[in-house]
Amino acid sequence: MKEIKDLTAEKITILGGGGFLGSHLARALLERDCCKVRVVDLSMDKLPEKHERLEKIEASVDDGGVIAEVVSWSDIVVSATAICNPAVYNTDPAAVIQANFTHLEPLVKRCARSGKRLIHFSTCEVYGHPQRSPSGQILPMNEDSTPLTMGPISKERWSYAAAKQLLERLIYGCGRHEGLDYTIVRPFNVIGPRMDYMPGVDGEGTPRVLACFMRALLFREPLRLVDGGRARRAFSYVTDFTDAVVRIIERPSACQRQIINIGCPDNDITIKELAVRLREKYAAMCAVPPSAIVSVSSEEFYGPGYEDVERRIPDIDKARALLDWEPRTPIDEMLGPIIEDYVTRYAPFCPAKS
Ligand code: UGA
Repeated sequence: MKEIKDLTAEKITILGGGGFLGSHLARALLERDCCKVRVVDLSMDKLPEKHERLEKIEASVDDGGVIAEVVSWSDIVVSATAICNPAVYNTDPAAVIQANFTHLEPLVKRCARSGKRLIHFSTCEVYGHPQRSPSGQILPMNEDSTPLTMGPISKERWSYAAAKQLLERLIYGCGRHEGLDYTIVRPFNVIGPRMDYMPGVDGEGTPRVLACFMRALLFREPLRLVDGGRARRAFSYVTDFTDAVVRIIERPSACQRQIINIGCPDNDITIKELAVRLREKYAAMCAVPPSAIVSVSSEEFYGPGYEDVERRIPDIDKARALLDWEPRTPIDEMLGPIIEDYVTRYAPFCPAKS
């Protein structure tokens, strides 16, 4: 029987708690009758306006004094800040490395020095390209045995994975040599309501695939498949993800100094299948004709220096064993609430209203 900690008296700070994963985690913690939650971020739109156990601090993690104050107040720090859109990895790698490594290095060291628990959101991207069995089959990605295989330096797509990997190595080192109490979480393509932003409405550039497709649907533009949409991703739903993270928070001993994949191997589909299912569901829900789907080359879509990951299948045996957790949401159950959320928030801003 694993020890489950009562979180009533805990003070938890979520750095980047205004973002997609951070705001869902904050809401999940507030729904439970327990801890105090502090969110540090520059934008708070995705959070409840008011809650008696929620405190919002508008600041950036690299503002002077923020990390010192956060670590001193908190029992647990969740670090969820990141630049995590692939379109930026090869267009502004310096910013990507700064946000995903440089700005967080002081946090790791301060948590180690102060004996505070750190739960760090890393990424499935650290695995890089998937490994194959001798017969050529793609193997699931395992936290403790899979080698991390990235492309050459000229493929700048890997700036993100390299920065995230270096931070993981720092955390691991501080755990082994300085006693840092940490858990590293590797999310696998988590999607859900309030993901990313809508280019031209509340952000600029190219978000991740779900937000790209939702923008195309809402603006009645074709959905663009990079290289025909042949890459595969195992998508997981955000409530399954936050359920796992709350369990990690509640199980400090079992999860101490562990790296844990959170994903849903059963939801492994091609990007083309995602586009088809999303446009059909959208057409049915909004009573519009299905949008067109077109193929573009990755060079045209992302520019030079991009390299795709063919497929990522998480090995989630460790999450199952440590957390008594199972992802529950199949793709088709995710799409309805996602579409509803995007239509509610963005339809008023779209030229062709749904
Ligand atoms: C993402 C990001 O690197 C991170 O945010 C994160 O760590 C991780 O994966 C995740 O979400 O867990 P990736 O899966 O490649 O990487 O990012 P997406 O932008 O969601 O792209 C998925 C696939 O869709 C890629 O093959 C991409 O080329 C394709 N795509 C993207 C399209 O076909 N059309 C689009 O409009 C956008």
